[in-house]
Amino acid sequence: MYDIRKISDDVTYIGCSDRRLALFESAYPVPNGISYNSYLIKDDKTALLDTVDKACSAQFFENLEAALDGRKLDYLIVNHMEPDHCALIENVITLYPEVKIVCTAKSVTLIKQFFDFNIDEKSIVVKEGDILNLGKHELTFVLAPMVHWPEVMVTYDKTDKTLYSADAFGSFGAINGNITDEGICFKCQYLDEARRYYTNIVGKYGPQVQMLLKKAATLDIKTICPLHGLIIKENIEKFVEKYDKWSRYEAEENSVLIAYTSVYGGTENAINILAGMLADRGIKGIKIYNVSQVHSSYVLSDAFKYSHIVFATTTYNNGIFETMEHFMHNIAAHNLQNKKVVLIQNGSWAPTCGSAMKTILEGLKGIEIIDESLCLKSTLKNDQLEILNNIADKIAESIK
Ligand code: FEO
Repeated sequence: MYDIRKISDDVTYIGCSDRRLALFESAYPVPNGISYNSYLIKDDKTALLDTVDKACSAQFFENLEAALDGRKLDYLIVNHMEPDHCALIENVITLYPEVKIVCTAKSVTLIKQFFDFNIDEKSIVVKEGDILNLGKHELTFVLAPMVHWPEVMVTYDKTDKTLYSADAFGSFGAINGNITDEGICFKCQYLDEARRYYTNIVGKYGPQVQMLLKKAATLDIKTICPLHGLIIKENIEKFVEKYDKWSRYEAEENSVLIAYTSVYGGTENAINILAGMLADRGIKGIKIYNVSQVHSSYVLSDAFKYSHIVFATTTYNNGIFETMEHFMHNIAAHNLQNKKVVLIQNGSWAPTCGSAMKTILEGLKGIEIIDESLCLKSTLKNDQLEILNNIADKIAESIK
């Protein structure tokens, strides 16, 4: 049975949610599911904005047929060629052979890589600022390279003042009935998963996101229709503010994230005592993650959020304990910047993970190591409490 939602006079949501997927992109846990959003504009001409993941193929085509309600499909606008949105392009062409594919030149290249149909016969290649008139609706194409792939564009509908934003302003999480952000608590119900989505999927490309924000600032936007998550109406300003912060690698929270691993509890004991010392110095909102237990996408997300990070880990195979090493390479790969950092190393006979952690962080901009003096030899000793107190003092002073 079709499952479509009218979102304005001429626009219908025809996407779907997947709650069976364990790992989005085979990488990111989605305990609350994921939505693949697709939109149909019905005007003098009809335009479909992106398709969905092939996991939702049957639902999508029922939705498209119902939403078209006997009309023919004139255009398929491809904002993003990643298969969670483009998987069904060839099936759309088979079912609606008159359709024209509206996309960037880079998308044409990718379409040829993913599919075998003759895209050159079907495509209308657009560039920055090109306009497509559907009748009442005037669509302008705005290039957004590397948000999140090089071919990405976003589509602005001047008539509805709607930005079809591709991956930008998306979130993990299925659609649970309510399709817009109206009436939700953006901060307590939506922001964390939107941040985890942004930081993990687009976080590396801050300068490119800044370019898109500058372009978007020239548009009068009343609705954002992303390819994942809720349609944003009420929280556009707040969301744009967060995107601006995240893409400039500015912390949201002046507090401490402690990321640790501990094989037998020695390191864990030390960071728990440190966290108590920080709390005694008035620091609120301290977050502690055992990176062996928590998926690194969550820790990365909070690494963007917090101003200060304590990395505490064990020497293992003459290097960094493997889950911490993975996490640190992950933050380096995502271009994390502008953090005040403390390194705590443990090594029962030959501690080397401190210098190895430093080597990873040295490649990142704006990382200031404010202390690296604590070296545990298996467990924290009484005579090291002073070192830990000094670390707490330095962090507290830096946070003030
Ligand atoms: Fe949702 Fe970059 O694809």
